[in-house]
Amino acid sequence: MEKTEWDQRYKTSELIWTAQPNRFVVEHLAELTPGRALDLGTGEGRNAVWLAERGWRTTGVDFSTTGLEKAGRLAGERGVAVEWVTADLREYSPEPGAHDLVLIAYMHLPPDDLAKMLRRAVTAVAPGGRLMIVGHDVTNLDEGVGGPRDPRVLYTPESIAGCLEPLTISRAGRVRRPVATDAGTREAIDTLVIASRDTPLP
Ligand SMILES: C[S@@+](CC[C@H](N)C(=O)[O-])C[C@H]1O[C@@H](n2cnc3c(N)ncnc32)[C@H](O)[C@@H]1O
Repeated sequence: MEKTEWDQRYKTSELIWTAQPNRFVVEHLAELTPGRALDLGTGEGRNAVWLAERGWRTTGVDFSTTGLEKAGRLAGERGVAVEWVTADLREYSPEPGAHDLVLIAYMHLPPDDLAKMLRRAVTAVAPGGRLMIVGHDVTNLDEGVGGPRDPRVLYTPESIAGCLEPLTISRAGRVRRPVATDAGTREAIDTLVIASRDTPLP
């Protein structure tokens, strides 16, 4: 989807997603010592605001100005400061080696664009820092609920992990997430990959 479509989607006064952080973000990042964090494709800011509340100096990047306005309101309500950057992630280059955490949640792009974005995300991770990527898995199409319907933009653990050299992969697999639907609670299937920079920057 392009910027205008996301702006249109975010136009409603309610949150499209929720004010709560993603469950895997909480599960895997709550114990980390805060430093500098970068949330690529931050949307309405639920994960960036949660990180800021935990003491991270957080930057949230998205091309939807409407999404970022809502993110700014959420941060204001929670009394935290987040740096919001309006940028297209097909072009955006974060500061290399400067982030103790880079988060990418449910950010789906065609394969070439995704690979380029992931390369820049890898470069942005500081020595000792971590990269976490969570998004809709390709098996979600037939076995799960929600998410994009175009298989080209869906993840597999292998396709994501394969783009993260020279980081060390500590986890690459599928995880399930309950989703409330009109037909009751169903499950969505996500790819979750966590990696860290264990060696110095080249
Ligand atoms: C499904 S939402 C996820 C939002 C957030 N990460 C979360 O988990 O709540 C995907 C976000 O990616 C953003 N996005 C999509 N393509 C983008 C691009 N090329 N550049 C910047 N942001 C983009 C959209 O505006 C949207 O906010």
